[in-house]
Amino acid sequence: MKESGSLDQFGIFKGEEIHEGFAIDRRIVVHTADINDFIKTIPDSSIRLIITSPPYNIGKEYETQVALTEYMKTQERLIGELVRVLADDGSICWQVGNYVEKGEIFPLDMFYYPVFKQYGLQLRNRIVWHFGHGLHASRRFSGRYETLVWFTKTKKYVFNLDPVRIEAKYPGKTNYKGPNYGKPSGNPLGKNPSDIWSIVAQDWETGLWEIPNVKANHPEKTIHPCQFPVELVQRCVLALTNEDDWVLDPYAGVGSALIAAVMHKRRAVGCDKESRYTRIAKERLEAFLAGSLKVRPLGKPVYRPTGREKVSQVPMNWTRNG
Ligand SMILES: C[S@@+](CC[C@H](N)C(=O)[O-])C[C@H]1O[C@@H](n2cnc3c(N)ncnc32)[C@H](O)[C@@H]1O
Repeated sequence: MKESGSLDQFGIFKGEEIHEGFAIDRRIVVHTADINDFIKTIPDSSIRLIITSPPYNIGKEYETQVALTEYMKTQERLIGELVRVLADDGSICWQVGNYVEKGEIFPLDMFYYPVFKQYGLQLRNRIVWHFGHGLHASRRFSGRYETLVWFTKTKKYVFNLDPVRIEAKYPGKTNYKGPNYGKPSGNPLGKNPSDIWSIVAQDWETGLWEIPNVKANHPEKTIHPCQFPVELVQRCVLALTNEDDWVLDPYAGVGSALIAAVMHKRRAVGCDKESRYTRIAKERLEAFLAGSLKVRPLGKPVYRPTGREKVSQVPMNWTRNG
């Protein structure tokens, strides 16, 4: 296989070209088009991980809202194509929130689940991505999580737990019965990070996957209204692919998933219909390759108020009992 770039001392493909069109011997592809057209250029069984956050059909600046049934029909056709390009031991990670109509919420993973099952995929985890801020609802409880559903194409799939293990809370714990009585019960590399990825608790140390939602003041923020944190994708890339594998984001936006893939020496292909986003995706990838992209370090604890900030103080004229 032809290599078009060279590894630098950190193992990153410096000087790597960012291509427009897909070819199996390339390493980075960013394409501007409707994914329903672009997907036809990708060969069968060539992608190890498809990870994306699709449009939620909620009237964001890059989408036209349609009836939920119509939206799902379009998605169903695309998912058929995604399953075609997915390797037999590959995975699809589909990150979604709610579709909302007249104040009623429709959790999108519930609607996607039968579609993935229809194509024979198997659900491995329904990961809850919890974040601490967002809009305050007035007629229901404020929503503070979305989900990432991880499906595999078959029962034989790539899963590397060791690179994403987190520090155990009680590494000194021992077995209290059986043949291993008295011996450490944990794994020296750490523990399984669980299926709750949160922004409130301490990250790798606590076992909650603490990934801040990308909003103002975040080092990764661009003009995109709903950007993935790179960190969210890094965990999936490390666990569900090997070096040199292809990672595809069909709704790539400003390229967060592609950056996560390239950071870990995977090949990355992304498509978005909006050139204003793919332009930024390319700029971010170029900045990454040049070593100047600002990315929140994997596992960095989130800032927590000390209680002394002005915004943490209860206003003087508020009393609990009115
Ligand atoms: C939720 S955003 C994804 C953001 C991305 N995860 C990121 O970090 O930037 C969904 C993206 O899908 C794109 N999109 C919507 N319909 C599309 C289509 N038919 N083909 C390609 N891209 C599309 C939108 O332009 C938008 O950037």
